Amino acid sequence: MSTKRFFWDSREIPFCEGETIAAALDAAGLSSFGSDALGRPTRYFCGIGACQGCLVRIDGVAREACLTLARDGLRIESLEHDDV
Ligand code: FES
Repeated sequence: MSTKRFFWDSREIPFCEGETIAAALDAAGLSSFGSDALGRPTRYFCGIGACQGCLVRIDGVAREACLTLARDGLRIESLEHDDV
């Protein structure tokens, strides 16, 4: 069985089938996903789509990493506050 991976900027992140992007990034040791409007680091917090702390850019669109399942080959970038 081959390992599935997506790309966080240029870094390959492995994940398990059914895992969210936020869980995979957290498991890979990434504690910050970008910065908010006040310049504070964003992160995986509530896990249910309520806090918006885990927003990332997926295929050019801002989405909650905690609600989005990882897919093989996906390209994901940090979403800086200027992007929102
Ligand atoms: S962790 Fe709160 S919306 Fe994703």
